Amino acid sequence: MASPQLNSLWIKMSTNQLMRKTSFLICVLFMLWYITSFFYYEQEKLSMAKNEGNINVIPPPVLSSNTTITTNNPLEVLNINYCGQPTCKFLFVYMFGEQETKANLHFRSFSQLAEKLNRVMILTNVGSSKIDICNKLPFDFYYNTNLLQKEFPNVTYKSEDDFIFWLKERDQIKKIMNKGDEVIPPLSVLHSNLRRYDITSNAVYRDVKPITSLNSCLSKFEPSMNLTDSSNSRVRYTIMDITKDDLRTEKSRDRFSKLLIDVLTIDEEILLVNSYVLDPLFPVIMPPLPYNDYILNEAQKIKDKLSSSYIGIHWRLEQSRAELLPECAQGLIETLNQVMKEKGIKNIYLATDYPLLSSHSQSDTFGDITNYHHDAMRMLNETFKINTWVSLEGLEQLRKDGKYDAEFLGAGIQGILDKLVCINSNYFISGPVGCSRILSTFTKAIAEERRNRIEKKDHSLLNIIDRWRIFNTSV
Ligand SMILES: *[C@@H]1O[C@H](CO)[C@@H](O)[C@H](O)[C@H]1NC(C)=O
Ligand SMILES: *[C@@H]1O[C@H](CO)[C@@H](O)[C@H](O)[C@H]1NC(C)=O
Ligand SMILES: *[C@@H]1O[C@H](CO)[C@@H](O)[C@H](O)[C@H]1NC(C)=O
Ligand SMILES: *[C@@H]1O[C@H](CO)[C@@H](O)[C@H](O)[C@H]1NC(C)=O
Repeated sequence: MASPQLNSLWIKMSTNQLMRKTSFLICVLFMLWYITSFFYYEQEKLSMAKNEGNINVIPPPVLSSNTTITTNNPLEVLNINYCGQPTCKFLFVYMFGEQETKANLHFRSFSQLAEKLNRVMILTNVGSSKIDICNKLPFDFYYNTNLLQKEFPNVTYKSEDDFIFWLKERDQIKKIMNKGDEVIPPLSVLHSNLRRYDITSNAVYRDVKPITSLNSCLSKFEPSMNLTDSSNSRVRYTIMDITKDDLRTEKSRDRFSKLLIDVLTIDEEILLVNSYVLDPLFPVIMPPLPYNDYILNEAQKIKDKLSSSYIGIHWRLEQSRAELLPECAQGLIETLNQVMKEKGIKNIYLATDYPLLSSHSQSDTFGDITNYHHDAMRMLNETFKINTWVSLEGLEQLRKDGKYDAEFLGAGIQGILDKLVCINSNYFISGPVGCSRILSTFTKAIAEERRNRIEKKDHSLLNIIDRWRIFNTSV
């Protein structure tokens, strides 16, 4: 996006002035090379975008042929083109911790931070229901980046690929310019662990020794960004210990976020953050990141297949008491019969971590699947026609494409689909204590969105959330 600052930065220099400089020719050649490579990169991205949907949120400005470049520092030229400013400053949260529903919340918190720090925010890769650099899929595999941009109009977002492009270009410039003296310095990086381990009595921010056991996925940016190579980058390390109380209320978050902005207002080009924060960081909590159109359409297709009328069930068997499961299944069956009769709904849709595709659970943290689990599911399956994202052929295109196999092995994009289908359901029920995981942010997110829709007078939703009852054999 061409920023208004851009023009004022291009100080007019007369040709005569420049002619005197011996570096002039080198510079011109350099610019030509730079503009050409930039042009090719744009072309490449365009063809990539055609294949994979829209990958780039904001394309960097392309120089028109008759623009006069008047700064002769090639790094500044790169930065102006890429970030709209002579210095690029990034916020790159490479680990968001926790699963998608929570990571979604944290991404919004850090977008707020990026705005306050006036830093370009990197759209970290996604996959297996996580947002972190260890994944191979681009951010927009899960999310709608255009709507995200509307939600945060003051933040410039760049994909990981864009970031790698910048690193590589910078590296090239450095190689060409740094003959003898250091014209282009190493990358300046602040690596910070923002963590809520609740091990201090209040928020503590401090410098620490270089962390030797950095996340191994960071090595994917080598050699362009090599944190252990001092000729490549100068890295400072810090830790921010956060406590529960810092994030508990709007008022405490107001105080804490000011501290955060204060300590992270720094000169380093790259602010690399490893986050594990559990709760929102700012007083205002922004609405959930919108999912991409492909997943929304899949949810709509499922709704259509169920004649637009179904009970959504979220049954997360993880953390259930295995011996209680027969009574849980019986209780669910009774509840379903009752709701179907009272509300006249014929279809049911089951969102579950019970393995639907293979022997793998839909959740990474759910290991021990016993016969109790199998029996409970069989009991339910023998009583009703159970519809799931698998039986209704959700995400079929992706499943046919071997490229996404890993995504379907555990928790992944199907979890987002389940969430959307449950949000859309006419009636939504979830498991009681003992039968399922109760403190699920996934379930809470569904209930919250349903409450919003009901408040907006969506009459197709007949309840927010109900929990079925465990069948009582003694009655
Ligand atoms: C390029 O030059 C032409 C003619 O001088 C001018 O009309 C046009 O606005 C210029 N384009 C840009 C992008 O500056
Ligand atoms: C964007 O920044 C402008 C200027 O600082 C501010 O007035 C506006 O409220 C910001 N927009 C949002 C959505 O935060
Ligand atoms: C990164 O730097 C370290 C230390 O200088 C070096 O051993 C390693 O080979 C570098 N990695 C790459 C991919 O160049
Ligand atoms: C229910 O039973 C059908 C038919 O035996 C089977 O194909 C399906 O996978 C079962 N569903 C679940 C959720 O176990």
